[in-house]
Amino acid sequence: MPEALELLKTRRSLKPVELASPGPSPAEIETLLTVAARVPDHGKLTPWRFIVFEGDARLAAGAAIEAAFRAKYPEATPEQVAYEHKRLARAPLVIAVVSRAGPHVKIPEWEQVLSAGAAAMSLVLAAHALGYGANWITEWYAYDRGVLDALGLAPHERIAGFIHIGRPPGPPEDRPRPPLNEIATRFPMTLPDRRA
Ligand SMILES: Cc1cc2nc3c(=O)[nH]c(=O)nc-3n(C[C@H](O)[C@H](O)[C@H](O)COP(=O)(O)O)c2cc1C
Repeated sequence: MPEALELLKTRRSLKPVELASPGPSPAEIETLLTVAARVPDHGKLTPWRFIVFEGDARLAAGAAIEAAFRAKYPEATPEQVAYEHKRLARAPLVIAVVSRAGPHVKIPEWEQVLSAGAAAMSLVLAAHALGYGANWITEWYAYDRGVLDALGLAPHERIAGFIHIGRPPGPPEDRPRPPLNEIATRFPMTLPDRRA
């Protein structure tokens, strides 16, 4: 499948502000979520879920981000506050990937977290396959308890990423990628010892 490989080889993140409307249709959003939910999942625990932000809901969520920001930085300028309010409104569609990983008798929590990362990556790739640009970001508000409460996350849930999706302005410029000879070896050749 050369087209699929080409997609994988050329994927690149775009800045959230570069991602223009119109965003994906309801049918396309369903496709995105369907692909994202089809990831390896040891123990079939479904250790992730998704929250879709579109239209005015992006600003409603932004109000919670703004409130948390104001509480942290009472001296913030009106411009900074306005920027925080629009955090989730830069792209037409944002999908939060929520990790629901937790202790389990058999499945390590680490593997559940990895599965959420896989769901986020599938979402990014599916968006590219549909012709959209995407960016997987967390930013400070992914780690703010007040924001997480307002978005409906339970205490044990965490944000794996806010996937921003919209129309790309054009083909993005690439960035240098790590040379394969620095990151891949054949056993028993050893990588430099990184344990120190
Ligand atoms: C879990 C995770 C969180 C990320 N959070 C941010 C972020 O908050 N801000 C940011 O600029 N990039 C963030 N990134 C990096 C971008 O997704 C992206 O990889 C980076 O801009 C490089 O572009 P590329 O994907 O084209 O290589 C994050 C990546 C991951 C995997």
